[in-house]
Amino acid sequence: AAPARDRLRIAIQKSGRLAEPARALLSSCGLSWRESRDRLFCYGETLPVDLLLVRDDDIPGLIADGVCDLGIVGRNVLLEQDGERRGIGRAPAFREWRALGFGGCRLALAVPDGWEWRSVSQLAGKRIATSYPALLSQWLATQCIDAKVVVLSGSVEIAPRLGQADAICDLVSSGATLAANQLKPVQTLIESEAVLAGPEQAFDDVRGELADLLLRRLDGALRIRH
Ligand code: PRP
Ligand code: ZN
Ligand code: MG
Repeated sequence: AAPARDRLRIAIQKSGRLAEPARALLSSCGLSWRESRDRLFCYGETLPVDLLLVRDDDIPGLIADGVCDLGIVGRNVLLEQDGERRGIGRAPAFREWRALGFGGCRLALAVPDGWEWRSVSQLAGKRIATSYPALLSQWLATQCIDAKVVVLSGSVEIAPRLGQADAICDLVSSGATLAANQLKPVQTLIESEAVLAGPEQAFDDVRGELADLLLRRLDGALRIRH
């Protein structure tokens, strides 16, 4: 087991869509921080709750490894990495504690504008580019579709034009990225939003009380917002 700690450490996105709203939500819970000069670690002042500013994709792993206690991350990232762990026979190490009501988007299949779309069976034998291979493969399996999953870590939307793939499976928020790349969404796989992620097991030291306090304040803040 990880060594007992007397401060809670929360991982949030350093920059990107969830960065500012995540900080604002934690501030509304009465937290404040003294920033370190490199801004990667923010020391909690009002409560012993520190922030670690990281890439969103690293957040589930940081929780799994016990480097961070909690994290604010897209459900899509959490589910994908949980699926990857299951795929290699590892036990679940993190889960969604709360949905946070911002950063809404969906993981969707998109095809070139010119396709006449009738049904998902059209994807059989096609190449689909994605950064979400576990979620896409799971979904294809449930649909009994045999397609080739092309894994890309970014710029997935350009793959069809480059001849690298026939279709894509990526996050859609406003839809502007798809439209700019002459693609159209045809099927939603997962509805996503920012979530508070935490370990599968409860904390067995003072972090448990800190987490309870934070959750109470968070639930209060979320009630006021909605
Ligand atoms: C996602 C996705 C698209 C874009 C879609 O990327 O990969 O590129 O958002 O949003 P839109 O429908 O509003 O155009 P994101 O900006 O989250 O970052 P990443 O791809 O670098 O992880
Ligand atoms: Zn990312
Ligand atoms: Mg993108």
